Amino acid sequence: MNPTSRIILVTCLFAVVTAAPQPNQERPEDPEPGLSVTTCGGNMDVSSASIEFQLGGSIRADMRCVWIVQAPYNVQRFTLVSSGLKETDGLYITQSTPGQNVTLNTRSVMITLIVGHEPSLGFKMEYYASGSPVSPDITSHAIFSTAKGNLTYPSNGGNYRNDEIALFPIAPSVPGQPTVRITRVDVESGSSCQFDSVRIYNWFEDDYLQVAIFCAYTIPTSVTLQDGAGVVFFSSDFSVTRTGFDFEYE
Ligand SMILES: *[C@@H]1O[C@H](CO)[C@@H](O)[C@H](O)[C@H]1NC(C)=O
Ligand SMILES: *[C@@H]1O[C@H](CO)[C@@H](O)[C@H](O)[C@H]1NC(C)=O
Repeated sequence: MNPTSRIILVTCLFAVVTAAPQPNQERPEDPEPGLSVTTCGGNMDVSSASIEFQLGGSIRADMRCVWIVQAPYNVQRFTLVSSGLKETDGLYITQSTPGQNVTLNTRSVMITLIVGHEPSLGFKMEYYASGSPVSPDITSHAIFSTAKGNLTYPSNGGNYRNDEIALFPIAPSVPGQPTVRITRVDVESGSSCQFDSVRIYNWFEDDYLQVAIFCAYTIPTSVTLQDGAGVVFFSSDFSVTRTGFDFEYE
């Protein structure tokens, strides 16, 4: 047997193995969370993770934290492993491509911690993705957890791209009621901003509610996040791009 035929033999064996019927082509859940996050807020662009926030410790009253999960598979499972949260607290899982309220079907998810007016206790949540591979649906995101901040979008000074979905949750980890001001808008116009738009969502009771949608050069009135959390959301369609928008909050 010469080396060439050996290589062919090995290749054939491999081919037979891969061609054999697969009992389940879907990707199973990871056996253990691959990433551990312990901060108030964070990004989890992974197939599994645990959020251990102040587990065994206390959480200050009125605290807000937002975590963003971008799952690489189409099924996501969330489980609360341990929790000292109270009835007046909430840990909300929101699919993060908004319709009127933030409820459309999407692969990416926001987890929002809303602590009531009394101090609370920490928790541990685990997340596992499984099933068929999917590509990310959010093209850009940043979580704002400081008391004040600002953003120029896009940050490179050029035009935004087609088919963007950009998500900017604002949830200062030191409780407050920041006011969001849009200071510049240059977004493709449409009579109801149906092509490209910037939207502001304000946390109210149990959900992020859309309180503004705008485009063209329209600067909307400022929005106060009375409950300490909100989202600035940008989306573009398949054609016409412009230079975007700026916002600040304090
Ligand atoms: C959005 O939320 C408001 C307030 O809860 C509700 O009245 C409205 O029906 C919701 N809209 C959609 C499209 O779910
Ligand atoms: C915008 O935020 C940056 C930090 O990200 C800060 O250095 C800068 O002073 C802020 N600008 C304004 C106008 O607030």
